[in-house]
Amino acid sequence: MSSMNSILARANSVLPVVVLDDASAALPLADALGGQGFSVLEITLRTSAAIDGIRSLAQHGEQTTVGAGTVLSHEQAVVACDAGAQFLVSPGFSQAVHQVAVDRGVPYLAGIATPSEAIAVAGLGYQAAKLFPANVVGGVEMIKALNSVLPELMICPTGGLSLSTMPDYLSQPNVPCVGGSWLVPRGLIHAGEWSALADLAAQTAALVARVPG
Ligand code: 3PG
Repeated sequence: MSSMNSILARANSVLPVVVLDDASAALPLADALGGQGFSVLEITLRTSAAIDGIRSLAQHGEQTTVGAGTVLSHEQAVVACDAGAQFLVSPGFSQAVHQVAVDRGVPYLAGIATPSEAIAVAGLGYQAAKLFPANVVGGVEMIKALNSVLPELMICPTGGLSLSTMPDYLSQPNVPCVGGSWLVPRGLIHAGEWSALADLAAQTAALVARVPG
């Protein structure tokens, strides 16, 4: 089993947070993103198409690592794991999702928004957490503060990030990866605009390549 940190390390610094309206969009989307090095995708369980989309990516082969996002309950976590999700993401910490992750041996990226929550997830043995919603709970300054007290906990900031704010986040030593939907706009996916999506991914990849370190 991969650890969450090794999955984040594989992500080319960005974890696209995807909302799928149609499961058949999953494979062409993965191709558009994978062409720019973004081969780790989070499919959020916010639509009825999400589980079938996860299943089709999980069965597609090794080029894409697919996780389930917005996992809020035991049942959702079980269904996502059964569909082949290789990691689980929640906007906060869920004891129920944690238990499924432990039972199934699937990495879990839990959300945190405060130092107390960061201490709690680190105390459970997690080496990475998602800061959410990053732009609301202190942004880069919060991440610097967390690094000064919990430098071993890697942070994946998500929520309100954009092409222009991403580089500052990625420059932080405790940020191996950021998450966001800016490179996967729901409307472009729904319209099947694969070349526009590949262009957005290319712009993101070019900025990632310029981040020092
Ligand atoms: C998430 O679930 O992580 C967020 O919805 C992604 O945030 P963003 O849409 O502001 O990038």
